[in-house]
Amino acid sequence: LSKTERKIIEASIRDIKDFPKPGIVFKDITTLLNDHKAYGVLMNHLYQRYKEYNLDFIAGIDARGFIFGAALAQMLGLGFVPIRKKGKLPYTTISEKYSLEYGVDEVEVHIDAFSAVPNAKVLVIDDLIATGGTANAAATLVNQTGATCVEACFIIGLSFLDGIKKLEEKTTVYSLIEV
Ligand code: PRP
Ligand code: ADE
Repeated sequence: LSKTERKIIEASIRDIKDFPKPGIVFKDITTLLNDHKAYGVLMNHLYQRYKEYNLDFIAGIDARGFIFGAALAQMLGLGFVPIRKKGKLPYTTISEKYSLEYGVDEVEVHIDAFSAVPNAKVLVIDDLIATGGTANAAATLVNQTGATCVEACFIIGLSFLDGIKKLEEKTTVYSLIEV
């Protein structure tokens, strides 16, 4: 990513103070999506990086990971797999619980999502990594299906939390913008 490209992407992401609760600075990527140039610079960068990876699938995390993951999958000529919050997927699933700051949540994937390719190589993608709980659960699910999560990709990494460090014990991590 060149300096100019990084600037274009960074400038298109908006900080919202105290959302969804006091003390949180929410990274709003809707302004990036709304900016055709910034979204294009980002997607082109991801395409250039991952075209060399010999991936079999892109798995996007509910909900914002879908927007980047589905676009990237089409660019790379690969299938897209949604990793969803509990109770949304219609067919047989496997699920994984993870901790949030308060309580627990759960993500699921279809049991046969990667079955078209034996030992499939999968990229997991989301907009942002904070504590890493969501991405860790997603990578665990991918690996439980018999596929392999070869990398986890994020547009934004909140490095004041230890999410990236923790996730690196499980898979390679790539984050474009470290905050
Ligand atoms: C956000 C974000 C990641 C997750 C990161 O999603 O898009 O998926 O939080 O947090 P973590 O690293 O601490 O797990 P959120 O759970 O708010 O759901 P949404 O995309 O449906 O808004
Ligand atoms: N998910 C967890 N923390 C977040 C933040 N600060 N901004 C956007 N999404 C988030």
